[in-house]
Amino acid sequence: RIVYCGGEFVAENEAKLSLFDRGFLFGDAVYEVTAVIGGKMVDNDLHLARLERSLSELSIPMPLSREEIEAIQLALIEKNALVEGTVYLQVSRGAEDRDFLYSDGLEPTFIAFTQVKNLLGSKGQKQGLSVNLAEDPRWERRDIKTVMLLGQVMAKRQAKATGFDDTWFFEDGAITEGASSSAFIVTHDRRIITRGNSKAILPGCTRAALLKLCSAHDVVLEERPFTIAEAQGAAEAFQTSATSLVTPIVRIGDVSLNGGVPGPVTRQLQAYYLETVN
Ligand code: PDD
Repeated sequence: RIVYCGGEFVAENEAKLSLFDRGFLFGDAVYEVTAVIGGKMVDNDLHLARLERSLSELSIPMPLSREEIEAIQLALIEKNALVEGTVYLQVSRGAEDRDFLYSDGLEPTFIAFTQVKNLLGSKGQKQGLSVNLAEDPRWERRDIKTVMLLGQVMAKRQAKATGFDDTWFFEDGAITEGASSSAFIVTHDRRIITRGNSKAILPGCTRAALLKLCSAHDVVLEERPFTIAEAQGAAEAFQTSATSLVTPIVRIGDVSLNGGVPGPVTRQLQAYYLETVN
């Protein structure tokens, strides 16, 4: 695989980073994952806008312009002949001798690589997934897409170990979001509910694209927190992300939704979304 590191395209086993990179030592870095379907990036403008916002919240300068970053993404897709998968971008504050306090004027470290992934034909797309529920273990700035992902790593491992596909987090009795996705439920009168954006969740790009589609297709959507009881009593549920697109959720904890199969409203939204990306 050809990756981007140190300002150039190199073979992955030739990529070099400093041992003292703050992304490595402190998790002092942000990232983005853009889906690639049929060789084309999905919602990439939203991802680059969010990258810029995450960096600005942490006072890390943009390493390159959006146009330059997009050119690198496109070159990686081409060099690796990527048809379906993801492009990953990461920007860390830079490298210097280890100290919590960082110096001004550090040069950010920018790396990018592609991954081959089966997105359209995944088990989740076809059959839906089960999620367990876990207290949200994360810090209070979940709106910044940082690489501090240990809470999610531990939660997903725990979910797998107990027979679930993924995890939804909750806080004060209400669902915040999925461990790496935005969470939605469908009420019995066919309204879509998802938590509104705030510092408590990541503002999902797929979520934003889906909200637009809901309004274009006159689907009623409410942005508000919903409780665990509402989720488990919902007609249907689904999650969205760059990698899961619109994925049905057919079991939440020990409660099956819609008889354990993806529901009609979810299938309709999945179809609307796939129309825009195919
Ligand atoms: N994760 N919430 C969290 C906590 C996430 O990590 C993600 C994405 C989302 C969905 O955001 P988007 O629709 O912009 O992908 C919501 C990516 C896919 C990841 O970490 O691999």
